Amino acid sequence: MESTFLGVWIFGWDKLPKGVHLASIWLVAIGSNLSALWILIANSFMQQPVGYVLRNGRAEMTDFWALVFNPHIFEQWPHVFTASVTMAGFLVMGVSAYHLRRKGKFHEIFKTSFKFAAIYAAIGAILVVVNGHGQAQHMVKVQPMKMAAAEALWETEGPAGESLFAIVDRANRRNFVDIKIPGVLSFLAHNNFTDPVRGINDIQAEYEQKYGPGDYIPPVTLSYWLFRAMVGLGTLMLLIALFALYLTVKNKVDEYDWFLRLLIPSIFLPTIAISVGWIFTEVARQPWVVFGVMKVSDGVSLAVSPAELWISLIGYILIYGALIVVDWQLMVKYAKKGIEEESGSQQTVPAHA
Ligand code: HEM
Repeated sequence: MESTFLGVWIFGWDKLPKGVHLASIWLVAIGSNLSALWILIANSFMQQPVGYVLRNGRAEMTDFWALVFNPHIFEQWPHVFTASVTMAGFLVMGVSAYHLRRKGKFHEIFKTSFKFAAIYAAIGAILVVVNGHGQAQHMVKVQPMKMAAAEALWETEGPAGESLFAIVDRANRRNFVDIKIPGVLSFLAHNNFTDPVRGINDIQAEYEQKYGPGDYIPPVTLSYWLFRAMVGLGTLMLLIALFALYLTVKNKVDEYDWFLRLLIPSIFLPTIAISVGWIFTEVARQPWVVFGVMKVSDGVSLAVSPAELWISLIGYILIYGALIVVDWQLMVKYAKKGIEEESGSQQTVPAHA
């Protein structure tokens, strides 16, 4: 659906009626989101396994709809969707800012695209933060170790403070330094400033009883900083998007050249936040592939050799690396070109797409 209608959209510029042409890019967007939904349903099973039984050491699906309606997906998908909305907003805002600074022939059109992008980025940034809060609360219930690692919280605390800066001493299971705002972690986890949040040591003891002896603590320093990077970037993007919205509503965009200049590299902020968010989600689930069911150490495949894995991994890196370079060059080329050289008229506006 995605690739077919992308083709229809690209090659149908002057051939299709405008409505059909527009519908084709909507179908691309719907296809991408359905694809994301399906990938995340599979990932949700790894975070919160549902709808299966273990038979002869194999997980077999017993309830397809339980899998599709996994409670985890209702937190995960909106977070990823709103993160993507933020990303789209920042991309169009950054490209529009580039052209607004050049003050070319199509200045007014870029002001309009800036306005739409600012609205889009602000809605995305507000929703991704609000939804992130809901997701964190779900995480406390389903994977409390993930939250404890994200906060480098070794001992159960109530009220629990939100850590601003910690240096972790993994070997002795404590922090050398830990600067906290009292009560805020309790609020993030339970919507009040007093309820306890469980620490790593408590949860480790519980898991040893439940799953047998072993180390159930994920890489704490990495989880801690990845989580801070995501939340920090989320807060920064929210401020940037709200300021952009303010400027566009007041029609003052042209007076803030430093801000327009800042928006160009800001195109990367959502991509970085999305990457660290995703790495956090996977790293802080360790040592599990499927939480509570299968450890990474049990997931090692005996059917492929390390050499085969290296070949396929290097192959992927090379192919995707080459695609990234080509993709990047094309995006920069067309973003810089803007409207004028592309079509030579105000009627078609490819830069908006
Ligand atoms: C204050 C802001 C935020 C909070 C409280 C928050 C919270 C969370 C939590 C708790 C998770 C892990 C969920 C789990 O593993 O169960 C997560 C994952 C993620 N976050 Fe955020 N987040 C915030 C901002 C952002 C921003 C701004 C972006 C990107 C624009 C973002 C993108 C992601 C992504 C892509 C994932 C991984 C989703 C997945 O693959 O499951 N987050 N976030």
